[in-house]
Amino acid sequence: MGVDPVVRDAYGERAPEYVDLFGSVEAAHAEDRRLIGEWARTIDGPVLDAGCGPGHWSGYMADNGAEVEGIDLVRAFITHARARFPEVPFRVGSLRNLGVSEGRLAGILAWYSLIHLEPEDLTVVLREFARALAPGGGLLVGFFVSPELRRFPHAVTDAYSWPVGELVELLGAAGFSLVESHTRTDSGHRPHGAIVARRNRG
Ligand SMILES: C[S@@+](CC[C@H](N)C(=O)[O-])C[C@H]1O[C@@H](n2cnc3c(N)ncnc32)[C@H](O)[C@@H]1O
Repeated sequence: MGVDPVVRDAYGERAPEYVDLFGSVEAAHAEDRRLIGEWARTIDGPVLDAGCGPGHWSGYMADNGAEVEGIDLVRAFITHARARFPEVPFRVGSLRNLGVSEGRLAGILAWYSLIHLEPEDLTVVLREFARALAPGGGLLVGFFVSPELRRFPHAVTDAYSWPVGELVELLGAAGFSLVESHTRTDSGHRPHGAIVARRNRG
């Protein structure tokens, strides 16, 4: 279970505030809209928005032609997402057990949903992603970047920032290959990273 109950309760308490502040793609950086939109258009088959929060990226990927489902630990987010994006299926679920059969998915978006996982739990979750993805399937991860692994008091509950190289190594150990990575530092924000990876075929 790791930190899941803590994360679920912390986001559950602040869900309306989170929806107001971050629950639309317009609130996101234009570069993130571009990256996620273009990535979604390359995926041919079912995409899981893993840790979808208010569901705005699920709705956006659906608008970009993806066959998407969103899952999240927090019921209030799922209730909001179902009402706001009725064309997209959403369910309460955990990153640790995605509830899909082996090789079923063509893509997984994990946009800032891995940030609260303890490093050892992150490995478990990445293996679950590899299990659920078809060989060659796509993974797009958004996260906080730092020169070394750091735990910090995130506004909702403690989170981690990662060096890009360390995250790429963990992905490699879980059965993924790097396609591309991006970093960006915007004034007033923690440095941002995005990794596009592919599940190995062998
Ligand atoms: C920072 S929010 C990001 C939400 C959304 N992806 C976005 O970009 O706004 C982190 C989300 O990950 C979800 N989350 C964290 N750990 C999870 C887990 N183990 N299983 C399912 N969802 C999880 C949280 O409930 C929360 O909605």
